[in-house]
This record gives sequence, structure tokens and C-alpha cells, in this order.
Amino acid sequence: MTTPSKRVFIKTYGCQMNVYDSEQMNTLLRNQGYSDTQTAEDADLIILNTCHIREKAAEKVYSELGRMRPLKENRKGVKIAVMGCVAQAEGAEIMRRAPVVDFVLGPQSYHHLPRMLNAENTSQDMRLATDFEVDDKFERLAARRGAQSPAAFVTIQEGCDKFCAFCVVPYTRGAEHSRSADQITAEVRALVRHGVREVTLLGQNVNAWADPQEGDIDGLGGLIAHLAQIDGLARIRYTTSHPRDMDDGLIAAHANERKLMPYLHLPLQSGADPVLKAMNRGHTLDHYKALIARIRAARPDIALSSDFIVGFPGETDADFEATMQAVRDIGYASAYSFKYSPRPGTPGAARDDQIPEPLKAERLAALQELLGAQQTSFNASMIGQTLPVLLERPGRHTGQVCGRSPFLQSVFADAPNARFGTMQMIKIENANRNSLSGTFCATTDEADPDMRKKSA
Ligand code: SAH
Ligand code: SF4
Ligand code: F3S
Repeated sequence: MTTPSKRVFIKTYGCQMNVYDSEQMNTLLRNQGYSDTQTAEDADLIILNTCHIREKAAEKVYSELGRMRPLKENRKGVKIAVMGCVAQAEGAEIMRRAPVVDFVLGPQSYHHLPRMLNAENTSQDMRLATDFEVDDKFERLAARRGAQSPAAFVTIQEGCDKFCAFCVVPYTRGAEHSRSADQITAEVRALVRHGVREVTLLGQNVNAWADPQEGDIDGLGGLIAHLAQIDGLARIRYTTSHPRDMDDGLIAAHANERKLMPYLHLPLQSGADPVLKAMNRGHTLDHYKALIARIRAARPDIALSSDFIVGFPGETDADFEATMQAVRDIGYASAYSFKYSPRPGTPGAARDDQIPEPLKAERLAALQELLGAQQTSFNASMIGQTLPVLLERPGRHTGQVCGRSPFLQSVFADAPNARFGTMQMIKIENANRNSLSGTFCATTDEADPDMRKKSA
């Protein structure tokens, strides 16, 4: 007789790094006899993988924990764990404020959960794990998950040494740390064996990646060229990169590697030099624009994306207008933008020239209108083109499928018999702000992964 397996429910907030970590956690727990469930109500173990980047993100954890309290009261033996960046930043406070929480695990301590679950003695020390021990984490979590989608994330670098004045990441994820090229290559090969066709290499500063084994693979550009040799892998992406770490080798990869997709997320944050300086970004607007010019020379059709923060302390109307003008000058295919949120312990939060909320909201609305118009017109420029699309999942209605264009746009098409994981040529007929749709042209895995004209 087999004992029924326990069920785990994981809810993930924040960035792709958390999505990757949640998948790793899932695999780890599967090896411990847990199966996953999509509802908290029937779970034996509930895990919240949290984000601390802005106040709203962090506060969600406490309201979610409040909602989960009855689940624990109604069923005996249910355990609740908080992992991720809020766990790292305020682990002890979580235990104090939310007694429903059984375990707290910072991003570098996930491999401790099985031990914590099995421990008889759950003293406070045993329930809180927030040490930094990155090597251990990757080694212990390396047991590979079965691929769930043809497009997968692979963390190659974690942590940050840049200390932008607004940001908590250096405190929650620790110092910059790169995984070895060997470890990454093995993981990507295993994913491809499981049917993965596209990988997105992840890091808080992914382009600061450097092989800790000091082999002959030079920086992220070298790593991409190395991974591009893996048969069966069709597409490579990477995120998030910092303008200061965009080196010649990486720019060259955009010119030379057909599997590297023509899309780059390169956050600018602000278009005003005094604000960039106050943010400690370490570059000026001119430096960023010069970089973009070199990248566009290497890959003329590249789609650019960025993050922006409005209302950083001291931001004047003229500073904000400089951001608007930078967006008009550069032109983005997509972008994320946020109101500045003062985070405890960061230099920005201590400043006495905070911008009032209504002014932040006004600036954000203006910026989002401009970015939205750029995104809509970029998407509309695809109408009439035939794009290679990697089919990833079912669409909104029966018979519809959804995949990504080379430029990371969601593309919908009716194709009831299409197989996920194949590359399809789709003629784009409609576009709106968030997605494209069109009709099937050809079923071929010969589709050029980046649709660049091959020179004969
Ligand atoms: N490493 C990346 C960013 C990681 S955080 C980089 O350097 O670009 C993702 C985005 O969240 C940031 O680019 C920034 O735009 C936003 N962000 C970070 N801290 C913030 C804060 N305190 N308030 C508002 N937005 C913030
Ligand atoms: Fe945060 Fe700056 Fe590091 Fe990005 S580079 S993670 S914004 S401190
Ligand atoms: Fe959030 Fe941590 Fe990612 S703070 S954005 S989950 S690195």
C-alpha cells in the first residue's frame, strides 16, 4: 500500500529569479514525496515566494498570510513557509507579526527546507534560515526539474554589488555570484533533452556574469556563443542587464549569434543625469545613448525595453521631462515603469526631499501613456510580417495556441493540431498593445530562429 503523497502549493511574487527558484523548490519537494497542487485549500504545505522591491509587493505577504490563517485552523498539520526577498529582509519580523508562519527561508537557504520539515524540534533557530551560502544553494538545488514548458529560465548569476540608492536587491540577494559555465551548460543540456527550445539566462546583473572557474569562456557573450552550440536549443535570451556591464563581447554576440534573440532589456531608470547620479547608476544619459547606438549598429532590428522610476527624491519637473525626452529619442518596444517606493535601509529612503505621492502618480501616468503608445506602434509595425513563433501554451479559446515572437511579443493563432515546442511561421494580421495575432503559414523547425536573412 502506498501512502498518499503530501501536497505543496507555491505562490510566487516578484521577478523571474523567483519563478526559477519556485520551480527548483518544487523539484526538491517532489523528491521528498510532495506533489504540487494549484490551490492552497488542499495543500499540506503552503509556500509564499516573496518580493521586497517595492512597499506594495512586500505588504502583499502579510495580507496573504492573513487570508491563509483559516486554512491552518481548519486542517491539522498544514505548514506555511515564507521564502524569497521579504523573508531575507525581515525574517524575524515575519515570525513575530505572523505566528501562522512555520518556516522562513532567505533566497540562499532553500535547500534547508526538507531538513526543517523533518525536524522534530522546531525552535526559532530551526525555523529561520537566512544565511548567505550561494555555492551550496546551486549545488544542492541542481537536481533538475522535468521541463514544463518549451521556454525555461536558468539562473546564471545572482546578487548585486551595485547598490543603486533606491534598491533592496543587494541586501536581499547578497553579493554578485556567478555559477560556473560547466554547471550552466549541464543544466541547459538537460533542459534541452526534456524538450526545452528556448532558455532565458537570468541574473540581477546577468551581464556581469564571469566564469568563476576562469576557463576560456569570456563573459556573457562568450557563454552565449558556447550555449548556442547545443543542438536542439533554438533561442537564447538574457535578463536583466546593467548598462555598465554591456561589454564588446556581448554586443558582438548580438551581431554574430543567430540563436540570440533581437531583444534587450536594458534599464535606464531616469533620463536626467542628476537623478542618475543620485541613484548611483554609474553612467550618464549620453553614455546610455552611445551604448544603444553601438548595439543597434550590431543588430539593427533589436527591440529595446527598459525600467523607469519616477519621483526619486529630488526629481524636478525638468528632470522628469528629460526622462520623457529620452524615451522619445530612444524608442522602446516595451517598458516597465514605477513610482519610487522608499525602501527601509536604502540611501534614497533617508533623503528629506521625497516627492509627494500625487506628483509621482501624475508623472507615472504621463510616462506610461508615452511608453504605451510606443509599444502599440512597435506591435503594429509587425502587421504583414511573417514571424517565427515558438509555440508555448494553449491560447484563450479552444484550438488557439500562444507563443513568443523573436521580440518577446505574445502571438496568438488558431492551430488546433500544432504541437507545443515547435517553431511556426505566423503571418501577423492584428496587433494591440499587449499581443499579436495571425495565421499559420508553415510548420517547420527550419524556421530561422531570429528570422535574419542568411547571407548566401
Ligand atoms: N538589476 C536590475 C533591476 C532589478 S529590480 C537593474 O539594475 O536594472 C527591477 C526594477 O524595479 C528596477 O529596474 C527598478 O526600475 C524597479 N525598482 C527597484 N527598486 C525600486 C524602488 N525602490 N521603487 C520603485 N521601483 C524600484
Ligand atoms: Fe538593484 Fe541597482 Fe543592483 Fe539592479 S543594479 S539589482 S537596481 S542595486
Ligand atoms: Fe523582488 Fe527579490 Fe526579485 S526583491 S524583484 S524577488 S530579487
